[in-house]
Amino acid sequence: MKAILTAAAVGLAALAFNSLALADEPVVIKFSHVVAENTPKGKMAEKFKELVAAKTGGSVVVEVYPNSQLFTDDNVLEAMLLGDVQMAAPALSKFSRYTDVLALYDLPFLFQDMDAVDRFQQSEQGQKMLDSLSKKGLVGLGYLHNGLKQLSADEPLRVPADAKGLKFRIMSSDVLEAQFETLDATPIKKPFSEVFTLLQTKALDGQENSWSNIYSKKFYEVQPYITETNHGLLDYMVVTSKEFWSSLGDEQRAQVREALDEALAYGNEVAADKSVEDKQRIAESGRTEIIELTPAERAQWVDAMKPVWKQFEKEIGPELIKSAYQSNQD
Ligand code: SIN
Repeated sequence: MKAILTAAAVGLAALAFNSLALADEPVVIKFSHVVAENTPKGKMAEKFKELVAAKTGGSVVVEVYPNSQLFTDDNVLEAMLLGDVQMAAPALSKFSRYTDVLALYDLPFLFQDMDAVDRFQQSEQGQKMLDSLSKKGLVGLGYLHNGLKQLSADEPLRVPADAKGLKFRIMSSDVLEAQFETLDATPIKKPFSEVFTLLQTKALDGQENSWSNIYSKKFYEVQPYITETNHGLLDYMVVTSKEFWSSLGDEQRAQVREALDEALAYGNEVAADKSVEDKQRIAESGRTEIIELTPAERAQWVDAMKPVWKQFEKEIGPELIKSAYQSNQD
């Protein structure tokens, strides 16, 4: 009898020890993204990891998985809803299966520069768009910039007619699809992780991206021409699942939030620097020719692409488009 009681006591003690150990386990945030470490998003994610460690005293640990190591942007949101990853920052163009309004950010020539983007995103309407994924179980935590997009190709693109008949890789966005269709080009939706090989093997003729992505993924080494069009925006939304976000205690959630806000401010500074420095690095590489457009040539691209606005006006909302456009004048 004594032996049975002792065994039971040992069992209970072991159980108590295990529960204590479990209570001390840190909360893990897996942060998955598709770009290189040396990019605005890569650097923001690393900064977030450091800040979370410092602010939570290690009770929350961020694990960063860059370069599509864990998920591509095409499957990361599903994985998030299943609890296999806790945070990501897909390009705004990649949310079309979840909401219509974010398509706003893909309209060509909507924002004249990143200051206009900032003004709109900080406005009431811009902030409200962070809630547009709520019905799908996702929480938008903030915007992060990369920069304006340029066109790269195997052929020199000076005027819209030069793009006719060429195959361009695009992100999974119907607005971007329409944008290339207005040029009589063929848009092809492909994950970011496949772009370099598709360009290198000439399966595709061109693509659109920011200076930072063109540099960090070496697209400039396999694309002899880059036209500085600044025709579109590459921006991100940091998202998590409602389930994960509400599972954090109030204090931990506030600490993670604060860490993220600081990391985003840092990431946006990196983005501003990189859109100048990475362009410079590409120019100095001598591997590609950067084509600068005259005002008359640029006006032709605007005229060719702008009809896309009308096509998507109904699903995005004319008032929203108007407000975003007005942020250029403030
Ligand atoms: C990214 O910057 O996250 C990827 C953009 C792309 O898919 O072109």
